[in-house]
Amino acid sequence: MSSSKTPSPHPADVSSDATQAEDSSAPFKIEVADRVSRLPAYLFGRLNALMYEKRRAGADVIDMGMGNPSEPPNELVIEKLVESAREPENHGYNPSIGILNLRREVAGKYLRKYGVRLDPENQVIVCLGSKEGFSHMCLALLGPGDTAIVPAPSYPAHVYGVALAAGNVLTLEVADSDRFLSNIAYACQHLHPRPKVVILNYPHNPSAVTVDPQFYVEVVKLARRYGFMVLSDIAYADIGFDGYQPPSFLAAPGALELGVEFTTMSKGYNMAGWRVGYAVGNAEMLKALSTVKAYYDYGMFLPIQVAAIVALRHTDAAVERQAQIYQRRRNVLVDGLRRLGWEITPPRAGMFVWAKIPPRWMAQMDSIQFAMKLLEEGDVVASPGGAFGPAGEGYLRMAMVENENRLRQAVRQIGRCLGSEPGAPANSPSDLTDAADRHSTPLGR
Ligand SMILES: Cc1ncc(COP(=O)(O)O)c(C=O)c1O
Repeated sequence: MSSSKTPSPHPADVSSDATQAEDSSAPFKIEVADRVSRLPAYLFGRLNALMYEKRRAGADVIDMGMGNPSEPPNELVIEKLVESAREPENHGYNPSIGILNLRREVAGKYLRKYGVRLDPENQVIVCLGSKEGFSHMCLALLGPGDTAIVPAPSYPAHVYGVALAAGNVLTLEVADSDRFLSNIAYACQHLHPRPKVVILNYPHNPSAVTVDPQFYVEVVKLARRYGFMVLSDIAYADIGFDGYQPPSFLAAPGALELGVEFTTMSKGYNMAGWRVGYAVGNAEMLKALSTVKAYYDYGMFLPIQVAAIVALRHTDAAVERQAQIYQRRRNVLVDGLRRLGWEITPPRAGMFVWAKIPPRWMAQMDSIQFAMKLLEEGDVVASPGGAFGPAGEGYLRMAMVENENRLRQAVRQIGRCLGSEPGAPANSPSDLTDAADRHSTPLGR
């Protein structure tokens, strides 16, 4: 057994003040791990720096950059958080997989919403946001020599979760779902060793592609045939439009035998900063995740878990209202951009409009330069498609996190900046008092 005594300092560490003053230069080069130094430069860096600079100078920048909800969570949920935080016994460490009552509530939601029956004891894990759960699941399943198929364009965590676990990433284009499936089959037939994991993400970030339940039935068939596990990220599943309900992978027959799904309270419940997500599904895969998590974290603050129970139990109607808010914003943004002559496929779910950059501009610049132009000359932030990998080039991702009136304003500013004013008249002052958007901040995040 090792001694718990504090070690005495090494003679080389004991130096006089004079020596320290002389030797102010760094004693050696700080070398970080390859897994960190190999990560690419942050592509939004320049865009963000310019946005902050403009705001400091007083510009009213309309920010559609991040999928960061601008409304607060339901009042009931906040009240429960405060009440629970006042309890002296609620401030200690917690099990890293979450308390059983919250896991039960998640199982309840899956049954209610998707008809999927889960055992809260071993088929549900609470995560510190679904991104944490996903990244640690990659560590639990993948290592050197293993390959994961990732949809392209890609939400960065899907690529770097695999890369940080030392796995290989094979990106396959997600735009056409039938082609995506046949490409998965092709990769499984031709790669040795075969892909071990396939990552799915519908409604897709950034491209807003959606699927119907039959798609997942086909995925399960492929997974059984070729022996891969599935990680399904349905972060935007609470936000469907025009009656469309984004399905769960786990509702496909046999899915529970080979896959895990990630959900979150960040989007539909407006709880992004709370860091509440869930991993549910195959018990063996989840056991591996819980092993990794037990080494990395101590679980979620208990009052947050208690408030999350209230949110899941009592705020379905608020989640639906929030989806309708996004639907109205979608209409405003899509109509406005079409009036500018842009070719847009309206999303049927999620928080993003995936807008094709008009060919006239694509001929002159890439998506990052185009996004910089919109910010420099139009005071509008949108994410360049190229930041999500080569398959995103030629597109902009616009997050609908500003209210309807600000989105109309954004369209006008884009039109002005590109010299293509919209055909319809400007909105009336009554738009400013849109009740559904009353929570939106003038400076959305
Ligand atoms: C596809 C996708 N998955 C997961 C997340 C992260 O969600 P969470 O806040 O639960 O970590 C996001 C956030 O933007 C996302 O776009």
